[in-house]
Amino acid sequence: MTPQSASPPRATPRAGLPYGPCALVTGASEGIGLAMAQELARQGYDLVLVARRRERLEMLAAELRAAHGSTVIVLPADLGSTSDVEQILRETEGLDIGLFVAAAGFGSAGSFVDLPLGNELNMVDVNCRAVVAMTHPIAQRLIARKRGGIVLFSSIVAFQGVAKFATYAATKAFVQSFAEGLRLELKPLGVDVLAVAPGPVATGFASRSGMFMPRAEKPEVVAREALAQLGKASTARPGFLAKTMEFGLSMLPRRGRVRMISMAMDGMANRKDAKG
Ligand SMILES: NC(=O)c1ccc[n+]([C@@H]2O[C@H](COP(=O)([O-])OP(=O)(O)OC[C@H]3O[C@@H](n4cnc5c(N)ncnc54)[C@H](OP(=O)(O)O)[C@@H]3O)[C@@H](O)[C@H]2O)c1
Repeated sequence: MTPQSASPPRATPRAGLPYGPCALVTGASEGIGLAMAQELARQGYDLVLVARRRERLEMLAAELRAAHGSTVIVLPADLGSTSDVEQILRETEGLDIGLFVAAAGFGSAGSFVDLPLGNELNMVDVNCRAVVAMTHPIAQRLIARKRGGIVLFSSIVAFQGVAKFATYAATKAFVQSFAEGLRLELKPLGVDVLAVAPGPVATGFASRSGMFMPRAEKPEVVAREALAQLGKASTARPGFLAKTMEFGLSMLPRRGRVRMISMAMDGMANRKDAKG
């Protein structure tokens, strides 16, 4: 990992920023993380952007500097690598980060026994291990400054097991539970924690996971709703699709939820027009 730094984020928060002055966003090169970074810059935050693809992060950084005058630091890193995670934590130690958004993540579709084990384990590392490894020191820093926010990405699949997405759904159940517990622990210490549980969102996620989503929410909607819910709710279900899917599933006993969402996800994974 080779960081590329601009000047450090400004020391004095812009007025009205609840978690300013600076937000650290993982998964910022694409999809929901990118939309979160754009929305945060629009609101006046300075940013630290993390993902593997340096060029995409640098393009986004240039866009945000030009459009909003944001100070942006780019830290290319593979969150499946313990040493990259440790380096991000070292690189950000001196920065006044008030908000941590952990949007990096990926999934896989298929029968568990047929999927390559290495990829499933890497998913656990990126979706769960890196989230814990980053949240621990960052939460300590936020507690020390007596104010902060943490946004973790769960999913509609987090609330029950899902056939053909068994590992992915389990990683999201981990994040959901982790966020709910942390929220109660950290609230009295001035730190707000939010789990975000989207339904299908139109990003690169589907094609990378071997799926096709005929209906999907815009990532910008997810970003706006997530930020609006931070400090208010325990879990955000951004957009119409997530809310209606959750409402429908909530009518069913857990066994029924598992079957229903497995059928829905299998339908998306088996579409002939699935890319990737
Ligand atoms: N899209 C959906 O339908 C949906 C629904 C529910 C929940 N979610 C969750 O929302 C989050 C964002 O998903 P998305 O839809 O925005 O996915 P996406 O478009 O595929 O973007 C994923 C982001 O994560 C980064 N990333 C993946 N592996 C990484 C690694 N090893 N190290 C560092 N960065 C990594 C990618 O950047 P690089 O490739 O440059 O590293 C990219 O910026 C994920 O946690 C996902 O589980 C998505």
